[in-house]
Amino acid sequence: MNRFALLLSTLLIVSSTLAASVADVKKKGVLVLGTDPTFQPFEFKGSDGSIQGFDIDIAKAVAKDLGVKLQIQAVGFGALMPQSVTSGRVDLALSGITITPERARVVSFSSPYYRSAQVFIVKAGNPGKFAWPADVRGKTIGVQANTTGQFAAGDSLKPKGAVIKVYDDFAAGLADVRAGRIAALIGDAPTVTDLKKRLPGQFDQAGKELVAEDYGAVFKKGSDLAAAADKTLARMKKDGEYQKLLDKWIVQK
Ligand code: ARG
Repeated sequence: MNRFALLLSTLLIVSSTLAASVADVKKKGVLVLGTDPTFQPFEFKGSDGSIQGFDIDIAKAVAKDLGVKLQIQAVGFGALMPQSVTSGRVDLALSGITITPERARVVSFSSPYYRSAQVFIVKAGNPGKFAWPADVRGKTIGVQANTTGQFAAGDSLKPKGAVIKVYDDFAAGLADVRAGRIAALIGDAPTVTDLKKRLPGQFDQAGKELVAEDYGAVFKKGSDLAAAADKTLARMKKDGEYQKLLDKWIVQK
């Protein structure tokens, strides 16, 4: 074997050990889920410290249909998307992750499993004081790093004169809204609805939604696990388990 062929075969071996395929997962007996559990009701730490939520139950169903156990790894959203998936540190990621064409170039998505949107969160009692698209010039708007909220703010709010403040930690952005340090924070609609219910009288949603989007489960590019997840999602929609999870976790307006 010449040096080039040796290098090539080494690379192939390395990439196949990292490739998360259905066969690999079945061989390991575990499906490793990466998630950023700061996103109630999709993933969050319960009072007993366990990571739970709508996405977690979907991942559990995928693992069950594959006949393996689910192992959960908490990863900050900045590192989760897409590095923890592309590096093979996790087999899949579910974390309220929006399907975008840019992301779909580097990872594979399942079919969409939840319709969502980016919306504005303001301090309670303030909705009248903030309106999109009329009213962003000179205002400071918070976004979470590496999220579609950040991308949308860069595309449509910055050109209109808004000042964008980036938070690694969503909770820090909420604290700044509460303290009146920023005019609004961009967040995912179902998490804002949940927040308003859990912390009554603190936050409101204001203005029109910034952008509508769909969530998908994320896999290493080309992995056949994406099709396995689609099969589970279709099964859950058909047998009512999906609806049961919606009723269990998502606050209905
Ligand atoms: N839907 C947004 C995105 O994909 C935000 C997701 C944040 N998820 C989380 N678990 N913190 O960029």
